[in-house]
Amino acid sequence: MKLADANDGHRASYQSDPESKSAEAVFRDHFGQDWKAHFVFNGTAANVLGLQMLVEPFQSVLVAETSHLWNDECGAPQRILGSALIPLRSPDGKLSPQILNEALVRRGDQHHTQIAAISISQPTELGTVYSLQELRALGAFCKSMRLLLHIDGSRLANAAVATGATFSDLVADAAAVSFGGTKNGLLGAEAVLIHQNRVREPDRARFFRKQLMQLPSKTRFLAVQFQAYLKDDLWRRIAYHQLQLASELRRQLEYITEIRITQPTQSNCVFAQIPRGWISKLREKHFFYVWNERTFECRLMLSWDSRKSDVDEFMSEIEKLRTNSGQD
Ligand SMILES: Cc1ncc(COP(=O)(O)O)c(C=O)c1O
Repeated sequence: MKLADANDGHRASYQSDPESKSAEAVFRDHFGQDWKAHFVFNGTAANVLGLQMLVEPFQSVLVAETSHLWNDECGAPQRILGSALIPLRSPDGKLSPQILNEALVRRGDQHHTQIAAISISQPTELGTVYSLQELRALGAFCKSMRLLLHIDGSRLANAAVATGATFSDLVADAAAVSFGGTKNGLLGAEAVLIHQNRVREPDRARFFRKQLMQLPSKTRFLAVQFQAYLKDDLWRRIAYHQLQLASELRRQLEYITEIRITQPTQSNCVFAQIPRGWISKLREKHFFYVWNERTFECRLMLSWDSRKSDVDEFMSEIEKLRTNSGQD
C-alpha cells in the first residue's frame, strides 16, 4: 500500500525526496538526533559501507568468527575496503572485552594491520543477544582502547524485543549501524546509520555509497517502507511474532530425544543438532542451513512470514522420521 502510494506523482531523487527526509527523521526519533540514515539495497553493502566509514585500508576490524561479515559476505569487505577482518573465537557468537583484549596486539607496529574497529552482530548469527550491560562493557572497552564500534543490526528489531531496550539504548556506544529491513519483511530496503559526531567527516558516506553502487535513485520506495515499519510499533509486532514462534519451536524440539538444542533461544532462531539422516527430508519443505557440517548442528530460522502451522508441520515431519527410523 505504502509502495503504491509512493508511486503516485513526481518526486525528487537520490534521497532528496520528502519521503526520504521524513524517513530520516523517523530514524532520528528512534536512534537519536546524531544519527543519519543512508538507504541501501542489501545487508552486505550496509556492512561494507558502515565499516568503510570507520577504517582505512591499513586498519583492521575485529569480528566474531561466526559473524556474517566473516562467513557469508564472500570476502566483500576485505575486497572492497582493502582492510583486514580478524575473526575471533566465541562459543556463543558474542565478543567480550576479554576476548577483544587478547586480540589487541601490535598497535603502532607498521608491519601489522592496525586494529581500529570492532563489529558485533546484534542478535548474533547464533541467535544470542547482547544484554545492555554487555553492550555497555563493550562500549567502555572501545572507548578506553580507541576503537570504533560497528553493529550489524540486520535483525536489530529482534534484539530490541528480546532485551526490551530502545534502539537508541542498543546503539548508544556505536559509530555505525547496519539496520536491516529485508529480514523483517521489507522489499530490498536496508539502512546504514552513521553517528555524525563519532566518525570522521560523516558526509563521506554519501560518496562511498555511490561508489558501492548502492545509491538508489527512487529512494522513496525504500524510505516509505521504513516509515511504515518503524511507525506504530510494526517492527515490534513482527519481531515479537518471530520470537514467539522460535520459542514454540524450541519448546516442541526439547521433547525429541534425538535432537540436542545447542544455543539459548533469544531471537528468531533455534540452533539444534539434528540426526544426519533426517536433514534432507526436513529441508524439502522447510529449508534451513546446516551450520556445522561435522556435527550437523542446524540453524532453524523463523521468518517474519512464518506461521504456527509451519512449526507444526515441521514437527509432524520430525515425528514421521522418528517413527520410520524406529522401524529400520
Ligand atoms: C547478520 C547479517 N548481516 C548481514 C546480512 C546480509 O544481508 P544480505 O543478504 O542482504 O546481503 C545477513 C543476511 O543473512 C545477516 O544475517
